[in-house]
Amino acid sequence: MKKSIVAAAWLLASVAASAQGQVNIICSVQAEWCNMISTVYARTTGTKVNLSMKGSGEALAQLVAERENPKTDVWFGGTGDPHLQAAEQGLSLEYKSPALAQLQPWSQQQAQQSGYRTVGIYSGPLGFGYNTELLAKKKIPAPRSWADLLKPIYKGDIQVANPAASGTAYTMVATLVQLMGEDKAFEYLKALHKNVSQYTRSGTGPIKAVARGETAVSISFVHDGPGEKMNGFPVETITPSEGTGAEIGSMSIIKGARNLDAAKKFYEWALTPAAQEMAAAAKQFQVPSNKAAKVDPRVPDFKKIKFINYDYAKYGASAERKRLIAKWEKEVNSLPH
Ligand code: G6P
Repeated sequence: MKKSIVAAAWLLASVAASAQGQVNIICSVQAEWCNMISTVYARTTGTKVNLSMKGSGEALAQLVAERENPKTDVWFGGTGDPHLQAAEQGLSLEYKSPALAQLQPWSQQQAQQSGYRTVGIYSGPLGFGYNTELLAKKKIPAPRSWADLLKPIYKGDIQVANPAASGTAYTMVATLVQLMGEDKAFEYLKALHKNVSQYTRSGTGPIKAVARGETAVSISFVHDGPGEKMNGFPVETITPSEGTGAEIGSMSIIKGARNLDAAKKFYEWALTPAAQEMAAAAKQFQVPSNKAAKVDPRVPDFKKIKFINYDYAKYGASAERKRLIAKWEKEVNSLPH
């Protein structure tokens, strides 16, 4: 009896799901947030959500590979530069959300710059993460500036991601180029290479290594720090004194999406304050793009941070992004440690 009730409930649920269709999402934020939005959205709408988690650079590579036969409907999150590149390459669909006016100016600007093929869903600053206990044990101070990271005391104790796979790491390369000029930035990256123990695939790999005490310092988005701290790890973050860049985490509908109506519905939902507040509930502390979304007190205070004037259009342009990544591979990553 019990079995048949379960079977009937399952049947009803799957009928409801098929009635509401499905949506295929590539998600480029951390797993807890991806899982939360997909579970809540599926439960509240009856839509089947197929989730695939990929870093920003890897997500873009997949969309390029799928161009002739797209399997993705929505790309949720990840740094804005590869979303702009996707827009330029015609991989994403022009779509003007009726909710645009409710969004922060930087989010609307991201939409406008892409010809309305992407939109900002969150923003957050680049900086450093560090393990306070490990630094104390090694008797070395926390780094305060980009210049500090080159000091020999940090040799083998810094992790950052690989800019080809990770939007976080590409944001670092583009930030340094804007801060120092290209020649000096590449000299800097070559010198930094000597202190880096590992380039990870995922942008959050380094701060997780900091949390576990595997490395003392990471180059990371500072909004990824509080979640590690809440999990009980001795992690603090700081933004460099010379100035830093910020990402405009973005969302795009894929051109040729098989489930276009479902994609638009999910997209609209993801722009609502309630959906955006799920970031903090999943221990991720970016600034939400909907002006009405609550800002958690752990979200970094932008007013206290020295920012460069990040040129999103320039560094999100396909040719520029490809050129800088290829140059980094050739001139930096190929060097011995
Ligand atoms: C984390 C951050 C996001 C960022 C993403 C980029 O999830 O919380 O704000 O957009 O990393 O990931 P990636 O692996 O491309 O660097």
